[in-house]
Amino acid sequence: MIPKPKIIKKLWNPGLPLGCPFLFKNMEGRIKITFSPLDEREAREVSGWCYLPPYDIYNLANSEESIAYAFNPQNNFYAMKDDKGDLVGFCSFGQDGQVPGGDYSVDALDIGMGIRPDLTGRGFGIDFVNSILDFARERFEPPRLRVTIAVFNKRAQRVWRKAGFQTVGRFRHMESRRTFFVMIEKEI
Ligand SMILES: CC(C)(COP(=O)(O)OP(=O)(O)OC[C@H]1O[C@@H](n2cnc3c(N)ncnc32)[C@H](O)[C@@H]1OP(=O)(O)O)[C@@H](O)C(=O)NCCC(=O)NCCS
Repeated sequence: MIPKPKIIKKLWNPGLPLGCPFLFKNMEGRIKITFSPLDEREAREVSGWCYLPPYDIYNLANSEESIAYAFNPQNNFYAMKDDKGDLVGFCSFGQDGQVPGGDYSVDALDIGMGIRPDLTGRGFGIDFVNSILDFARERFEPPRLRVTIAVFNKRAQRVWRKAGFQTVGRFRHMESRRTFFVMIEKEI
């Protein structure tokens, strides 16, 4: 059997339209991403994003209440835009990134995030995560950074491990009956 080339695996994402957008990298080999507080229009856009199963658990509730939650400055949601100003992702900092049932006793800043669905599974994950880490360190100067990821979500775990995070806990979210890992950045 002929082995499947890696590039095909990276670009294959069922349900995507042909002629999908692409993000260009700069001279340093990184995607240039800028951050700004999520406004109401962006909160509506992000709430309409649909991830394909099994990642559909990350779809935000498309209700007025959750839209208002996302653009409430107290919840620290940020829009991530590319060099053309297009919305390519969002992230949140603080309690929004926690899942009930996890042990969050260590002093750390929690991160939630999502890349625009048509840009997922294309190898951009590490660039997005590194940009979020740079932004978070500069904006919040946190003691440490932390993320909570569903156990089935090997794709996300791979990216965060590559970014220097390690698993420090595992727990079951009673309502969804899903198991999650808590991952925290390794101390240098
Ligand atoms: C999680 C997320 C940031 C990952 O970014 P991405 O651009 O989709 O991921 P990539 O295409 O860069 O893939 C990352 C790695 O996972 C691997 N991978 C992809 N699917 C995989 C799978 N089903 N099982 C194991 N590994 C997988 C890729 O091959 C790649 O490995 P490599 O870096 O060694 O080549 C992005 O998918 C996202 O924002 N998703 C929204 C929903 C979500 O998962 N939220 C959790 C955020 S913490």
